[in-house]
Amino acid sequence: MDFWKWYDRQLLAAKQYDIPIYELDWLVLRLTYLDKLDLRLRSPNISQKITPELLTELDQLWQKRLSDRIPVQYLAGSVTWRDLELQVSPAVLIPRPETELIIDIIAEHCQAEIYHNGIWVDLGTGSGAIAIGLAKCFLKAEIHAIDYSRDALEIATLNASNHHQKIHFDHGKWFEPLAKLNLQNKLAGIVSNPPYIPSHQVLNLQPEVQNHEPHLALDGGQDGLDDIRELVNTAPEYLISGGFWIIEMMVGQAQIVRSLLQANGKYKNIQIHQDYSGIERFISAQIN
Ligand SMILES: C[S@@+](CC[C@H](N)C(=O)[O-])C[C@H]1O[C@@H](n2cnc3c(N)ncnc32)[C@H](O)[C@@H]1O
Repeated sequence: MDFWKWYDRQLLAAKQYDIPIYELDWLVLRLTYLDKLDLRLRSPNISQKITPELLTELDQLWQKRLSDRIPVQYLAGSVTWRDLELQVSPAVLIPRPETELIIDIIAEHCQAEIYHNGIWVDLGTGSGAIAIGLAKCFLKAEIHAIDYSRDALEIATLNASNHHQKIHFDHGKWFEPLAKLNLQNKLAGIVSNPPYIPSHQVLNLQPEVQNHEPHLALDGGQDGLDDIRELVNTAPEYLISGGFWIIEMMVGQAQIVRSLLQANGKYKNIQIHQDYSGIERFISAQIN
């Protein structure tokens, strides 16, 4: 079949299934390594570049996108996050564009030597995105990354190795692995994008997320704050004086998390940061 005929049919199908057209383009470009402009300008030589086998593969994956609502990133097995190509599978949350900013906020607020030479931990590392981003930013730092999912750690380890980053991966619940490593009062920074969606809302998420992304990565308990409370309450045992703490949160949680930090009494310089859409997405603080 001619590529353009196939493409035009799939544009219509995408509309019918209420799936954004850019996802079709994304999958085509990912699999074919064609240029975006070729697609936009409907370059006549595209058809020749796409072999029948490649078109069959593309079609099979795209039909899964339409019928099974599988995210295109899982179908392709990879995603671009910041300047990183990362492998993803249904064992890990697909790293989101809005999370990219967390690295820039850390870089801006942690310019002192204690941070650049210190020990950092990414709690709930998933694909390893944040830990790898951090390692590329803090070349002399010792980076640890923790996850309770062994399958996620496998992917994160592969991603770190693909990017030639030395990261210490440890399995366990939040601070447990750090206790075993005797890292109390030793960390320059803690970063986390924890599960923060209230349990009842997880069941109402779009099918792509609800049926395909790991619930361990999403479900933050009854009010969404179970894991955030643990991160607020236990982090002071592990951070050095002046140590930096930052997490991502959900729309509407900023003031509650600020109150949790204030009530704890061990934090100062509490700051809320917006994402690219102006949503209060991150909150940072330092240990007294
Ligand atoms: C929202 S995802 C974030 C993944 C990745 N850091 C990112 O930003 O794309 C949360 C991660 O926390 C992990 N997680 C959930 N509960 C955990 C726990 N008790 N201890 C350690 N990790 C946990 C999940 O497996 C998941 O990888």
